[in-house]
Amino acid sequence: MATIIDGTKVAAAVRERAAAAASELAAHGVRPCLAVVLVGDDPASASYVRMKERDCAEVGIESRDHRLVAETTQEELDALIDSLNDDPSVHGILVQMPLPAHLDAESVIARISPCKDVDGFHPESLGSLVRGLPGFRACTPAGVMEMLGAYGIDPSGMNAVVVGRSTIVGKPMALLLLEANATVTVCHSRTKDLPAVCRGADLLVAAIGRPKMIDASYVKPGAVVVDVGINRTDDGLVGDVDFESVEPIASAITPVPGGVGPMTRAMLVANTVAAASAR
Ligand code: GUN
Repeated sequence: MATIIDGTKVAAAVRERAAAAASELAAHGVRPCLAVVLVGDDPASASYVRMKERDCAEVGIESRDHRLVAETTQEELDALIDSLNDDPSVHGILVQMPLPAHLDAESVIARISPCKDVDGFHPESLGSLVRGLPGFRACTPAGVMEMLGAYGIDPSGMNAVVVGRSTIVGKPMALLLLEANATVTVCHSRTKDLPAVCRGADLLVAAIGRPKMIDASYVKPGAVVVDVGINRTDDGLVGDVDFESVEPIASAITPVPGGVGPMTRAMLVANTVAAASAR
């Protein structure tokens, strides 16, 4: 029987800390402010943005909503980013991804001032992570580290295997685990004998976007298993891990929903309060 790592509970604690820091700032006349930019009308993105705005309200962060039509041009979006960069009352900028295909997401990310990059997606933020310097860390992997810490799981000396090499999750996750002194392996679609590599893991992080792909045959008994997957299927929301088969052999596991998901949003508000504090 594994310990179930309760992301909802850890996220609430992170928000509570952020709320305390926000009220401290309020005493100095500063209200942390997150600008949220949503281009187009993708329903999933709109729903994520609504939840982020609700989190902000709970913590005492002002959220400013910028909804742009799907036909918005690169120049118009660039101009909005420039004005948010220049606005001293805005501390964090979030451009909801994915952007419509005609827009260049990489150039938009790079245009955000690194001191307002609360998503941690900017090349300078990623460079700071590589170099071990202060900077914003991507919210999902930072949330995973926070959860491990809350449950007293220290990656130091562990063999950590990260399945998935995205810029948003897999790569920064590997670097954060390395920073925490884990021995890290990053796997991807070309990895040979993926189950065997995963079975070497004391700490296994699944971030591949394939429903229930990681079953018990990938997991060493006693391993810690972190499921970053959020897959909408006919069975509802499921992770990348086959929870039913893995839970009996893992020492600790994150569920879906209620695991990593709530942490991503909690780290966003924490980063926004940190951005306001830094100024
Ligand atoms: N789309 C899905 N997740 C995220 C996220 O964490 N940040 C942004 N900006 N867009 C997303």
